[in-house]
Amino acid sequence: MINVFGSDCGEREAGRASDAIRSNWMGMGRNVTEFEKAFAAHLHSADFVMLDSGSNALHMAVKLLDLPPGSEVIVPSFTWVACAQAVLLAGCKVRFCDVALDTQNVRAEDIEKVRTPDTKAVMVVHYAGLPCNMREILDLGLPVIEDAAHAVDSLIGPFPCGTIGDIGIFSFDAVKNLATPEGGGLVARNPERMQRARRLRCCGAGSAGFSSGKTDRWWEYDISDVWPKTVPNDVSAAVGRVQLDRLDELQEKRKHVWEIYQKEFSTVPWITRPVNAPHGEKHSYFTYFVRVLNGRRDELAKYLKANGVYTTLRYHPLHLNPLYGQQAVRLANCEVLNEVGLNLPLHPGMSEADAERVVGLVKAFC
Ligand SMILES: Cc1ncc(COP(=O)(O)O)c(C=O)c1O
Repeated sequence: MINVFGSDCGEREAGRASDAIRSNWMGMGRNVTEFEKAFAAHLHSADFVMLDSGSNALHMAVKLLDLPPGSEVIVPSFTWVACAQAVLLAGCKVRFCDVALDTQNVRAEDIEKVRTPDTKAVMVVHYAGLPCNMREILDLGLPVIEDAAHAVDSLIGPFPCGTIGDIGIFSFDAVKNLATPEGGGLVARNPERMQRARRLRCCGAGSAGFSSGKTDRWWEYDISDVWPKTVPNDVSAAVGRVQLDRLDELQEKRKHVWEIYQKEFSTVPWITRPVNAPHGEKHSYFTYFVRVLNGRRDELAKYLKANGVYTTLRYHPLHLNPLYGQQAVRLANCEVLNEVGLNLPLHPGMSEADAERVVGLVKAFC
């Protein structure tokens, strides 16, 4: 089976993970500190706080904005459920907006359409790693959380996605561009928010014990806030450190599959190809999303699956889920994407022959 998502891990990752385990300190420690420094450097940022997941980084990001109770946060409906859950977990209201049909990215006009006087922040997702138009989004004058879960290698000019808004989050789950067993983290422009994030991540208790640097009564801690345990671990950080070293190589593999698809599908009129990054910007090639225009998306997915190629739809629009009580809202593009969108396999574990097999099957289906 050619899977839709995947990773490419080998001896180096296994070796570093095994060293972390054998050190008899698998929890948050030296490897987390090392990963944070290296990832901050990758982002040209002074700091990075690693957490246990991108989902919890989203939750923490909303918390760090300190929004007044009842505030609304606008979230694209075409995103992963963690985005909406983060807003609700932080005690705010979620308001869904549409995205562009061709890029699957949220635009300022989509936000403006649903903005109310209670709107106090916006969350944007760089879908597949194609940067959103951050200039027009920042011009709205709202605090911006950038979900850069797909955008670990994306740039707008010299600026890494995730560092342009107020707070940016990343995911290092097992199928992301930088894969670990589980992991994530955040970067905030405001250094006080970074310090607060560090204090929050272990039940709001900051650091106590050996690592606190205290010479007297080091077992005491100041509990600053109510927060669950969202600490990362040294095994994930060790794997992440190797994946970060290998990021250029891994990205080249993704790009190669992407380019095969872009070339081959140019002659398939019933498929729209994803948008390449414009000049001066960089894509992360997290996933290859097509729109199937012949009305046979579901049939195509089943045909591919029957022939050993697994595809999926990321994402089933959130506003269509009864939990959020917004099913009556019409978000036309998200609803079209729900009917015609399909993610084809793209990951660094794929060979050229795998990509060509996918292409061959898609063409044969026609
Ligand atoms: C857009 C987006 N945001 C956030 C997340 C959450 O990341 P994690 O799986 O690390 O919790 C994901 C995960 O797939 C995602 O796709």
